[in-house]
Amino acid sequence: MKADSGNKRGLWGSRLGFILAASGSAVGLGNVWKFPYVTGQNGGGAFVLIYLICIAVVGLPIMLAEFTIGRRTGLNPVGAFRKLAPGTPWVAIGFMGVLAGFLILSFYAVVGGWTLAYAAKALTSNISFFSSPDVAGEFFGNFISDTPMVLFYHTVFMGLTIAIVLRGIHGGIEKACNILMPTLVIMLLLLMIRSLTLEGAMAGVDFYLSPDFSKINGSVILLAMGQAFFSLSLGMGCLITYASYLPPEENLTSATVYVVLFDTFIALLMGMVIFPAVFAVGMQPTEGPSLVFTVLPTVFAKMPMGGLAAIVFFILLAIAALTSAISLLEAVVAFFIDQFGWDRKKAVWAMGASIYLFGIPSGLSFGLWSDFTLFGKTFFDLADNIASNYLLPLGGMLTAVFVGWWWGTDQAHKEIERHETTFHWGKAWGFLIKYVSPIAVLFVFLGRFF
Ligand code: PHE
Repeated sequence: MKADSGNKRGLWGSRLGFILAASGSAVGLGNVWKFPYVTGQNGGGAFVLIYLICIAVVGLPIMLAEFTIGRRTGLNPVGAFRKLAPGTPWVAIGFMGVLAGFLILSFYAVVGGWTLAYAAKALTSNISFFSSPDVAGEFFGNFISDTPMVLFYHTVFMGLTIAIVLRGIHGGIEKACNILMPTLVIMLLLLMIRSLTLEGAMAGVDFYLSPDFSKINGSVILLAMGQAFFSLSLGMGCLITYASYLPPEENLTSATVYVVLFDTFIALLMGMVIFPAVFAVGMQPTEGPSLVFTVLPTVFAKMPMGGLAAIVFFILLAIAALTSAISLLEAVVAFFIDQFGWDRKKAVWAMGASIYLFGIPSGLSFGLWSDFTLFGKTFFDLADNIASNYLLPLGGMLTAVFVGWWWGTDQAHKEIERHETTFHWGKAWGFLIKYVSPIAVLFVFLGRFF
């Protein structure tokens, strides 16, 4: 179905289509690139544990809340809050979400560009080039400070995102997700086996799985929570938007569980790919954003048919990044379509271009503009930090308060149980969304500042 036929906004083609698309949004650079590097910088096992707690008590209940709001209203984040709570300030959650989507996509497309560049490199050169982490590190360093190259791939990535979102949700977004997910899992499992069988891999397993709580403080907890929101695509209404294209017979609770489990599985698996390899090749887990881009090529170089594996992997990663990027753009675009009556084409081009331009300073943050900092952070880090660690948790917390206290869990239950699905863990969810999630986020915020 085209976005402008039948139902004006379009609907998902199938039940699985929605689950795959929501997973496509969730699984992306957050799992494969960001999770390993923030885990590496923040103490390994202990960070993972806190991350998992955040997923369970904050992420899961809020995801269901967003799905429910989306399907109930059939609107973008701003429209949705306006419809459920007309004339109240709750609509601010929606605006904050659109802003967060804008900010996140601006730097996300830069890293998406990196994945494309690596796919191209894998296609055109021999993988044995990356024989040592030093060579791989040098290549990465040269690449991200090469302005024309970075801009070129950033442009290609954003262009692809725009092209898919232009085609609407069924034609573009759903199809792209259908093939990707299963292939990605197989690839990661193969890579994990290779990593675990490298000599010295066990030190990495140890770093990853045995928690050392001495590394934990308020800001580490905030990072773990921010990462949970980022990875699950929560707190900015992107999942409200996706669920707005749902037919009423979808079972929201099982979709939530499925997406959360799948996203968490991919992140945890990725840790098992990266950390054994980091230690085996003698690198530091605290490397930062370059971690995955230097460790993985070194692992590929040590694999039979590593060249082929590298090509497949980076192409898959680029697609995983694309399926997340389109969900970010879709949330922003839906806002302009629903609220201002723009047609899809105009909204996609206008927003795609603005986000692209705004992302350029992020792209230059590792090279030309690396000295340009604000509060000690580059433009890239600032965009990431403001959006992921503040806007998303705040948006999520307010969504929980809204659903738990203003709109009401009874209303939510009714929506969830439309079409005779029974909400087995409804009571537990009500408790989580009313008390646990908002209070947890509040404490983490307070803990950061005091
Ligand atoms: N969840 C995506 C990832 O892990 C990123 C994202 C964040 C997408 C917020 C949409 C909204 O890569």
